[in-house]
Amino acid sequence: MALLITGVAGFVGSHLAERLLKEGFDLIGVDSFLDYYPKGIKENNLKRVRENPRFEFIEGNLLNLNLKEILEQVDAVFHQAAIPGVRASWGKDFSQYVENNIQATQVLLEACKDIRLKKFIYASSSSIYGDSDELPIKETSPTNPVSPYGVSKLAGEHLTALYFKGYGIPTVSLRYFTVYGSRQRPDMGFHKFISAVLLGREIEIYGTGEQTRDFTFIEDAVEANLQAFFGGKEGEAYNVGGGSRIKLIEAIRIIEEISGKSANLKYKDPQRGDAKHTYADVSKAKRDFGYSPKVNIYEGLARHCKWLKDNLDIYR
Ligand code: UGA
Repeated sequence: MALLITGVAGFVGSHLAERLLKEGFDLIGVDSFLDYYPKGIKENNLKRVRENPRFEFIEGNLLNLNLKEILEQVDAVFHQAAIPGVRASWGKDFSQYVENNIQATQVLLEACKDIRLKKFIYASSSSIYGDSDELPIKETSPTNPVSPYGVSKLAGEHLTALYFKGYGIPTVSLRYFTVYGSRQRPDMGFHKFISAVLLGREIEIYGTGEQTRDFTFIEDAVEANLQAFFGGKEGEAYNVGGGSRIKLIEAIRIIEEISGKSANLKYKDPQRGDAKHTYADVSKAKRDFGYSPKVNIYEGLARHCKWLKDNLDIYR
């Protein structure tokens, strides 16, 4: 069976590719190397999968590629491609979010209309909830994004649900909660915190550090994709969290403990677009396809720190 991953050179996409190849699937991976962060980092993400003869890489933008030709060769789609930054989504750059997160999703769904797919998995985001009054957050909790990025991911999710209703495309949305681990994007919190501690540089904390996040280890997020491929209900959305939440400052204390180095903290103003608290109720994903996060924050951060220590050169 052949599968398609869009955004295959990204953090989640590249891990998912490795796992799906390991499971024995043939794979087509698409990526346009958007310059949100350097191409060299993404090339490095792809290094291992590119050596696999069952992997075909297509460089290009979803808005320009002959998608029909690609889709005719596959049985399912994992749509990971997006501009991912929350805090960078204000101002004139929002047009890139519209183009890459909304229009590209619509164009891909259009091209799927006449293809018999087993599943279309959409990478959604906890950012669609914004500042939720209910914790833990359920899939039925209100969606009030606090960032333009969240608005774009929510629009993409609505499109997948619409194309299920209108055309029967078997879409499933996975709402990831702040994924971390090896190859995490260089603009994300843990990557920046661990690098700063290892290099003796300052950590900029946005706000008080009292904000909480439900952090999800990359292996758990990848597992959720596989489980949703087999057992996700069409037209549905699922929270994919790490199983607990922690204050940012506490996570930094754990990084200090693991690395044996102290963090040099610099407090900055809270950033526009950041949700204060996230915490996923994952019981729906558990019920429908057996999702149960395995890697807790201590083990996950230890593995993330170890990997980054060995791979810091990639990011210099
Ligand atoms: C992350 C991803 O960047 C999004 O692509 C994804 O959609 C989202 O998770 C999600 O939940 O789905 P975010 O939660 O902002 O967004 O993840 P981080 O960049 O790791 O930030 C975590 C926390 O650290 C935030 O409170 C942020 O304000 C804080 N932070 C980050 C700092 O205090 N300093 C920094 O330098 C970076």
